[in-house]
Amino acid sequence: MLIAVCCDRGAPGSTTTSLALGVSTPEPTIVVEADPYGGDLALRCVAPGGHGEAFPPTPTVLTLATEARTTVTPGLAAGKAHEFTGSTRVVPGHFSAEQAAGVKNWAPLAEALRASASRVVADLGRIHSSSPTIPVAAAADVVVMVTRPEVGAVMHLKDRLERLAPVLANIRNAPPVVVPVVVTPKRFAGAVLEHVGRMLAPSNAAGVIAGIGWIALDPTGVEAMHAGQVGGKKNARTPLLKSAGVLNDQINQAAGVGPYGTPEAAQVDAYAGHGEEA
Ligand SMILES: Nc1ncnc2c1ncn2[C@@H]1O[C@H](COP(=O)(O)OP(=O)(O)O)[C@@H](O)[C@H]1O
Ligand SMILES: [Mg+2]
Repeated sequence: MLIAVCCDRGAPGSTTTSLALGVSTPEPTIVVEADPYGGDLALRCVAPGGHGEAFPPTPTVLTLATEARTTVTPGLAAGKAHEFTGSTRVVPGHFSAEQAAGVKNWAPLAEALRASASRVVADLGRIHSSSPTIPVAAAADVVVMVTRPEVGAVMHLKDRLERLAPVLANIRNAPPVVVPVVVTPKRFAGAVLEHVGRMLAPSNAAGVIAGIGWIALDPTGVEAMHAGQVGGKKNARTPLLKSAGVLNDQINQAAGVGPYGTPEAAQVDAYAGHGEEA
């Protein structure tokens, strides 16, 4: 399964949500920071067994994208990934946007991610209809669009979705399956999801929305995740990872059933699964 995660103006959280989706499931997952503008995931994560040091500077997503031009195998992405937690591997992004100049075509990367034997979460960062990473979004089983609850952020998401949906549908020959995800504290999640559902309902792209999800705004949880504390015997699960676990289930369901219902109906389903302790 390939999950693409992206965001728009004023709604950061693509990288954090991607990593949380990776570490919150026991299913072997490769998190690929495939943001053409570059990223710093290699510097944020503490590699296992290390003493606070991050991943080595290579391989990065550009190594993977370059190799994918000549050979694509089910193990290619895993082979270019650094071990992070027991079940999660990470392919960090390049550090500076300029470094991506040599990779003009991201379609081979899309092919490599799609061919991966392990589940892949591809963090595309900010995306628009002419982004080089459009082939990755088009190849994804589910596209997660991260937003914040502010009206401006949700309206940007609505606009972006309406522009992206036909572009992706044209490449895939089928409508994309999209799950908008709101980053907000747990205590507001119910009201925020309802509000966002209402804002997206009149969208002419509402038919591709397969549920609206939620990720906890949890700075302490983000820090723990970067340190590799992802729950288990010694560490309790943080709100961030509990919400990511529920979102993983929602994504799996969306991938299985495809686009369905109205955003309001989907939103009710989405919130029903959050439970009290998430
Ligand atoms: N769920 C969250 N809880 C708390 N802080 C978050 C969350 N998601 C993102 N952030 C913070 O917002 C900032 C940008 O997030 P990041 O995931 O790097 O965004 P992007 O990849 O879209 O640029 C970071 O400081 C990150 O820690
Ligand atoms: Mg990022």
